[in-house]
Amino acid sequence: MLAAFVSTPSPDDPLSVLEVGERPAPEAPDGWVTIDVKAASLNHHDVFSLRGVGLPAEKMPMILGCDAAGTDPDGNEVVVHAVISSPDWRGDETLDPKRSLLSEKHQGTLAQQVVVPRGNVLPKPAELSFAEAACLPTAWLTAYRMLFVKSGLRPGQTVLVQGASGGVATALIVLGSHAGFRVWVTGRSEEKRAAAVALGADQAFETGARLPGRVDAVMETVGKATWSHSVKSLKPGGTLVVSGATTGFDPSAELNRVFFTQLSVVGSTMGTRTELESLIQFCATAGVRPLIDVEMPLADARDGFARMVEGRTAGKIVFTV
Ligand SMILES: NC(=O)c1ccc[n+]([C@@H]2O[C@H](COP(=O)([O-])OP(=O)(O)OC[C@H]3O[C@@H](n4cnc5c(N)ncnc54)[C@H](OP(=O)(O)O)[C@@H]3O)[C@@H](O)[C@H]2O)c1
Repeated sequence: MLAAFVSTPSPDDPLSVLEVGERPAPEAPDGWVTIDVKAASLNHHDVFSLRGVGLPAEKMPMILGCDAAGTDPDGNEVVVHAVISSPDWRGDETLDPKRSLLSEKHQGTLAQQVVVPRGNVLPKPAELSFAEAACLPTAWLTAYRMLFVKSGLRPGQTVLVQGASGGVATALIVLGSHAGFRVWVTGRSEEKRAAAVALGADQAFETGARLPGRVDAVMETVGKATWSHSVKSLKPGGTLVVSGATTGFDPSAELNRVFFTQLSVVGSTMGTRTELESLIQFCATAGVRPLIDVEMPLADARDGFARMVEGRTAGKIVFTV
């Protein structure tokens, strides 16, 4: 079957090790189910995988991709939950020390078929297209948990989203503005800032710019390039929710500000199946839709990866199968 995969990592030149070609079709073990993929979306996780971050060479060749929407063997339209926990794990699966995301231990979704545990299959509502549904399981679920589970924000409060055009950033803007938060955004270009305001942000600023006031919470996925600005932008007692570090994992922690202004730094990763159900329901009932930058055939995956590596994002990149 056609798939986008990696056989050898390259820390410095991820595009050079992306392969788009034939891989064996997966076989579903007991309790797992084969999904015919109709649409799969790209995440920065897939670029990190090409670099070998979180995906050691001994796990390769590995089909990339965490997110998929498609059909199950009975023809039902479904969305795939990307967090695979141990069979005996109970409770919040993101806290299972042995959990993985699709494409870390098990073959991923950028393919004609993917196999997943039966419990990871959720119904796709008719209101959402396959492409829209394929945006939800990673970037959008991560944004949902950051905003509604981890931040402690209430409608009317102000949230700063670092980054304007990425998958998680656009999800944070859309979900936050629909929930009644005042959303401030930083973006690296005038075009990206204007797009963030069109999406629902109250105001957008240059990366690192002084804000009109301090915020109740910051949503951080950019990492080293914006961390200091995030820490300085919070009100005393504010909350910094971090789920990613695209530009580097090791900024100065600025501990003096953290304790003196009594900030909470809260880590967040993906979300639970129940949170994904709630997100899907929120989209279906509130008319919220993921921002899709571009849809392209899986055979053209290299173009989509190049856009992400070069920072030419404007929402989610979706591959149709
Ligand atoms: N923990 C989890 O469960 C989880 C889940 C999803 C994602 N993540 C992580 O979250 C991050 C974002 O993922 P994504 O899929 O949304 O990636 P993406 O679509 O490639 O978006 C990248 C974002 O980073 C910003 N950015 C990149 N370089 C920057 C720089 N030098 N200065 C300022 N901003 C910069 C971009 O801002 P502009 O718009 O200004 O260009 C853009 O918003 C990744 O690190 C990913 O691994 C973690």
